[in-house]
Amino acid sequence: MSKRTTTLDILARKGKAPLVVLTAYTAPMAKLLDAHVDMLLVGDSLGMVIYGMESTLPVTLDMMINHGKAVVGAASKAIVVVDLPFGTYQASPSQAFESSARVLAETGATAVKLEGGKEMAETISFLTHRGVPVVGHVGLKPQSVHALGGYRYQGRNDAEAAQILDDAKAVEDAGAFAIVLEGVREDIAAHITSQLKIPTIGIGASPTCDGQVLVIDDMLGLTANTPSFVKHYAQLSHSITAAVKTYAEEVTNRTFPGAEHCFKGKK
Ligand code: KIV
Repeated sequence: MSKRTTTLDILARKGKAPLVVLTAYTAPMAKLLDAHVDMLLVGDSLGMVIYGMESTLPVTLDMMINHGKAVVGAASKAIVVVDLPFGTYQASPSQAFESSARVLAETGATAVKLEGGKEMAETISFLTHRGVPVVGHVGLKPQSVHALGGYRYQGRNDAEAAQILDDAKAVEDAGAFAIVLEGVREDIAAHITSQLKIPTIGIGASPTCDGQVLVIDDMLGLTANTPSFVKHYAQLSHSITAAVKTYAEEVTNRTFPGAEHCFKGKK
């Protein structure tokens, strides 16, 4: 069994071979992805992807812990990072510590991810000084969808671009070992990546980042209405529809189950 990737391994990749990151929410998917990625992110996107929610806001800590446990148990090589969901860390550093402690103790994950810049720096510092490795997340922050006025690219003018850089620096200074940059222009992502010592992991943030992350169901073509930054590496929804259509036909015309699928047993 290969050794699991550590936070130091991730840090050491700054400016080197790009980090390969995907979300995973279930044990079978984590098992398939593990050998091919550096990091598995149990993202709170699971609320929308798995549970059909309108946003990530209703996701609970118990949901994240259940899925985190499944992913950690199925993956032995990739570092596993679990998102702290909305409302479980913003109130105070001690609330964030209590949520993170549950995540790390109950799932076996290595780190948590939380959204926010300067306003979360005190919390990130509190966590990292108490043994909780943290991945930051700036730019488009889906938990702030209503405050942002929708899922829109961030950094639309110089002041906003400067704010994202300040946020990323504050997250780094507070002790995060990596940071997700979501939905920012290429020049902003390139500048932030050049200014930080920790790796940047981009989603809709250009190849200038130190790594890339995508939502697994999006890149496999399992979800509808994906953002323009998603590349479909497969169209599994087409394959599933074709398979289920064939199954329905075969059940209807009694060609399934065939003789080879029947239990003969001994009389
Ligand atoms: O929740 C999530 O899956 C994420 C990634 C899209 C970065 O935060």
